[in-house]
Parts: sequence; structure tokens; C-alpha cells
Amino acid sequence: MNKVVVTQKLPYPVVEKLSGYNIFYNDKDTQMDRNELLMQTTDADAIVSMLSDRIDKELIDNAKKLKIIVNYAVGFNNIDVVYAKEKGIVVCNTPHILTETTAELAFALMISVARRVVEADRFTRGGRFKGWTPNLFLGTDLYRKRVGIFGFGRIGQAFARCCRGFEMDIVYTGKSRKFDGELLTNAKYLPFEEFVSTSDFIVVTAPLNESTRYTFTIDTFKKMKRDAIFINVGRGPIVKESDLAFALKNHLIRGAGLDVYENEPEVHPELIDLENVVLLPHIGSATEDTRYNMADLCIRSIRNFLEKGERPWNEV
Ligand code: GLV
Ligand code: GLV
Repeated sequence: MNKVVVTQKLPYPVVEKLSGYNIFYNDKDTQMDRNELLMQTTDADAIVSMLSDRIDKELIDNAKKLKIIVNYAVGFNNIDVVYAKEKGIVVCNTPHILTETTAELAFALMISVARRVVEADRFTRGGRFKGWTPNLFLGTDLYRKRVGIFGFGRIGQAFARCCRGFEMDIVYTGKSRKFDGELLTNAKYLPFEEFVSTSDFIVVTAPLNESTRYTFTIDTFKKMKRDAIFINVGRGPIVKESDLAFALKNHLIRGAGLDVYENEPEVHPELIDLENVVLLPHIGSATEDTRYNMADLCIRSIRNFLEKGERPWNEV
């Protein structure tokens, strides 16, 4: 009987959908500890891993029967994909189905920071609302402002479509132009420097890899507009978090909205103390439908591969 390890509790009937398998299901809302993960995967044929699980050489070498790893995420920087492939292991992720959900969260962050929604909520709950005034929580408009997208892939382009409703001037940057995306969203390509210095909003939807790591450091924040708002729903290490904290504290930029962090789940302590930043606990794809669909894709990929030898369409 094939063994499947599911490393964390999913909003999905895992046991029922994996009938006929030997399942190790960590039916808890906490990450598996490293030793248990190594132990349980020793004889596993398949793993459903979370983005917080490190699937590295050690684990892969230890899991002698492993044939397929399915990451419950679109990002897969937690997996040593090159090594897994060398070992003939199929690696999958959950693309497409979380695209709109994640784009919507990026938009929620953008509008929250622009209109100081979370700060104003804290104010109201704190009993400090003593009546309407012309100066209370002045924010900034999205309408017809320039929004710059870093990571003009599926999520970036879905986000661009959200921005069109606000008649925003959409620009993007990256290693290469994406003509299809430009046609679909009306976005314009800009070289990085011009992108950074002219955007009112900069929104990161890129994956983490060696070319995106530390793209945003103090040098970049210094080049931004003093009124710029920075959003990150991609991966934390694309940004040097201490530099972002410095930029926010010293008003080099206006505000920030983050869903991801450099050393998750740690959040830079200086960010916690700042009012002009909205901090979310990595919930980009967290809707009931999307998280169910992601689980369904993971389980189907494994079953179709192990039972029918079907090469998953979502292989990375
Ligand atoms: C979430 O961050 C994902 O990569 O799916
Ligand atoms: C504000 O509440 C307005 O009516 O302008």
C-alpha cells in the first residue's frame, strides 16, 4: 500500500479522499517538527508539503521510496527542486487556482494602506473617535495613480485587472517583456529604475529565486517617491526587511502592506511598532474555496500519478 504523508491539517476530507492509502496525516494546525517529518517520510511514496516545510537534500536522501512531492502552495522555494528532479522525484505545486484569491488580497492590502483602514479601526476600537473632523486619517487615492507590479505573472496580471477598475496607470518590470500580459491588462513595461522612481504603489507578486532575492533594499527605497506605498504578497526575502523598516520609520516612503516576511513567522520588531504598515500572517490564498481546491489538486495529482502513472499538469 502506498504511503502518503500530509504534513498539516487541510480544510478538506483528506482521509476520505485518500482511502486505499497508508496515510500519515498531521491533523493539527501546527507544523510537523523536523525529526518527525524525517521519520514519517522515510518510507513515504508521496508527500503533501506545506510552504513552511523544508524539503531539502537530507529529507530527499532519507525518503528512499519517494516518488512525488506536492507543495500546498504556488511558491516552491522551500523545496530543493533540482535535487528532487535529479533523484527522479516529481515535484508539483498548486498554480492557477489561487491566482485571483491572492491578487484580491494584494488589492485589499493596497487599499488598506492607502486609506489607513487598519489604523483607523484601531483608533475607533480604542474609543478615540470623538467626532468627524476634516483631518481625520487623511489617506491617498488609488484612482488614476501609477501602480507598479513586480512579478508580472499570473497573480501580477490578475492584480492588474483589479487595478483597471480604479483606472490606475499600470506598469510592470522584470527580466523580459510579457506582450500577452500587456495586451490583457493594458500594462506598460518599464526598466527597473524608472519603475521604482515613478510608481505610486509598488506591488510584489514575484516568486523567490536567486534573481529576486533582496531586490528591494535601502537603495531601492531611497529611489522611490516619498509618497510611495509598498506591498508584498510574494515572498519575504525579496525585500530586506530591516531596510523596509528603516524606510518606513524615516518616511522615505508613505506606507507598506505585507503578507510575507523575511524570516517567517518572525516579523521585524520595528515593523510591529509602526502605524504606517499593515501586517498580515501569510494569508494570500486563504479563502475557503481556494484552500479546498488546492487540497483537491494535491490529492488528485498524487492519486493520478501513483495509480495511473499520469504525469501531473502542475509539475514545476
Ligand atoms: C503562498 O504563499 C503560496 O505560495 O501559495
Ligand atoms: C462625509 O461623510 C460626507 O458626507 O462628505
